[in-house]
Amino acid sequence: MSTAADAVTDALRELHARFAGLRDGLVADYIPQLALTDPDAFGLALISMDGHRYSAGDAAAPFTLQSVSKPFVYALALSALGLDEVCRWVNAEPSGEAYNAVSLEPGTGRPDNAMVNAGAIITTALIPDTPDAPRFDRILDGLSRFAGRRLDVDEQVYASEAATGDRNRALAYLLRSTGPLPVDPVAAIDTYFAQCAVRVTALDLAAMAATLAHGGVNPLTGDAVVPEPVAAQVLAVMATCGMYDASGDWLLRVGLPAKSGVSGGLIAAGPARFGLAAYSPRLDPTGTSVRGRAALGALSERLGLHLM
Ligand code: DON
Repeated sequence: MSTAADAVTDALRELHARFAGLRDGLVADYIPQLALTDPDAFGLALISMDGHRYSAGDAAAPFTLQSVSKPFVYALALSALGLDEVCRWVNAEPSGEAYNAVSLEPGTGRPDNAMVNAGAIITTALIPDTPDAPRFDRILDGLSRFAGRRLDVDEQVYASEAATGDRNRALAYLLRSTGPLPVDPVAAIDTYFAQCAVRVTALDLAAMAATLAHGGVNPLTGDAVVPEPVAAQVLAVMATCGMYDASGDWLLRVGLPAKSGVSGGLIAAGPARFGLAAYSPRLDPTGTSVRGRAALGALSERLGLHLM
């Protein structure tokens, strides 16, 4: 007798096989270390609310979080400061612009949302920083709890982005000049680069997405990482802003809150159902994994995951 679990395993394996031949897209090279990635790595993973782990392909291959860090650091900021205080610094509107756009609301100078770089740099800066718990320690600890295991930083990717990240550095100075950056731009950007360089696998990403889907409680460890309302707030912003200027098309076709990253990681969450992740480094022009987008879209259609 075939079970629902068999159906998930079969679907992941079949979609992995179907899209492994896709050679469209380019590996990111504006962070030079990312250009050294194996362009053909391809992993899929899904974790259910009862902690079952399903995967296909290179689901245990390491890569860096990049922008997939943003919703999780946003969750940590919301937990520390509350929604109203965070919204004073970062808005929650779709920008319809690229991830690295100069996103400043006329009048307040607030970035449109915490998923674009400008908003994410502020979110990072909002994480408390105290002598006993430095800002980055809090972020690494929080990301690790979302993943359910101790994560670390890929020092080569970190150094590579720190050496070349002038656009983000410029964004941080611009934010400081218009108002909404509560800390020194140099410190904020250094922490942001480090969070982007945290090393994960597709299985880690599925656990992180599953924690958001599970009301902030990691389904593998039982750890209550963030309060339930915070998990819902983050999923809402992922749904409207997580895929940048492709967010509307993604919600239309795939129908799940999601977040992409330039190393090729991609997450999607089915509230109260599952966390889903893909890893494949060839990207489309919006900075989204081509195979990841294809596989998650096909999985949503095949298993009827569209929320609307
Ligand atoms: O800030 C950057 O440019 C990178 N560290 C992250 C950008 C990113 O992942 C955009 N997402 N697709």
